[in-house]
Amino acid sequence: MESAAVFSGLGSNYLLGASRGASFLLPPFFNDKRISFPAPLQLQKQSSFASFNNVQAASSARFDAAVSDVYSEVSELADIDWDNLGFGFMPTDYMYVMKCSRGGNFSKGELQRFGNIEMNPSAGVLNYGQGLFEGLKAYKKEDGKILLFRPEENAQRMRMGAERMCMPSPTVEQFVEAVKVTVLANERWVPPPGKGSLYIRPLLMGTGAVLGLAPSPEYTFLIYVSPVGNYFKEGLAPINLVIETEVHRAAPGGTGGVKTIGNYAAVLKAQSAAKAKGYSDVLYLDCVHKKYLEEVSSCNVFTVKVY
Ligand SMILES: Cc1ncc(COP(=O)(O)O)c(C=O)c1O
Repeated sequence: MESAAVFSGLGSNYLLGASRGASFLLPPFFNDKRISFPAPLQLQKQSSFASFNNVQAASSARFDAAVSDVYSEVSELADIDWDNLGFGFMPTDYMYVMKCSRGGNFSKGELQRFGNIEMNPSAGVLNYGQGLFEGLKAYKKEDGKILLFRPEENAQRMRMGAERMCMPSPTVEQFVEAVKVTVLANERWVPPPGKGSLYIRPLLMGTGAVLGLAPSPEYTFLIYVSPVGNYFKEGLAPINLVIETEVHRAAPGGTGGVKTIGNYAAVLKAQSAAKAKGYSDVLYLDCVHKKYLEEVSSCNVFTVKVY
């Protein structure tokens, strides 16, 4: 279901750049001496993003002004089994990190080597669940270009969620730029055409220390990526869902309308029980009438009415 939804909109794709011979936008921090790119990482000088929409055109202009003179060799594809990608975490080369204080604005992000992050045990996200995530994918085309599916919509959704969760959030432009540079820095992990996609996971977290319940004093926006295949082990074959009547994903006045992390742990119990009975996942009903379809634990559901 998830794959079908993603593919359905490829008409409005965004062109990220080409693996070979094309140009990319590079932010100033690509010149940062703290960042050492792996030898095969390809970073080429930006020229234009002709096929981008307004949001991306704006970001292109900004990057043009700060274009880096960093060039390096063409990336080699990562040495993994591309034919058997599942939906499991696989570490890649870089992650994007940008911080902001409460009441402030996100300003300067940077690429860092992918790795563990340090957090105060009293961080808002750990103690009170002040966190959001997003999920989108980058696909490689036959001609080597990389496609994103309307990333500004994910940015908008994160902004709506941040408002609900009392967090500052990156602008749409910052979000889209961050996605692009993270994908480009990890280009060798984008699966070849037809083998899967590079899953992009932006996080927004209250990382400052709090003890009494309050918004965190500091926030971290982080993006990591991982190559993935189909979400369900069934691939694109039909899956069996069990309808859940007791556990609900969303309630009026709650946080079901935003992509906050706490929505997910809350359905693990129902999902585990369903899997133990041989189902692929759970289909949740609305909590008021207990009859309207809502969604599956981690994906949308679409119905087709046959007359
Ligand atoms: C609960 C839920 N619904 C739907 C989706 C599908 O994603 P999108 O809403 O971006 O199409 C996801 C993916 O993370 C999800 O977790």
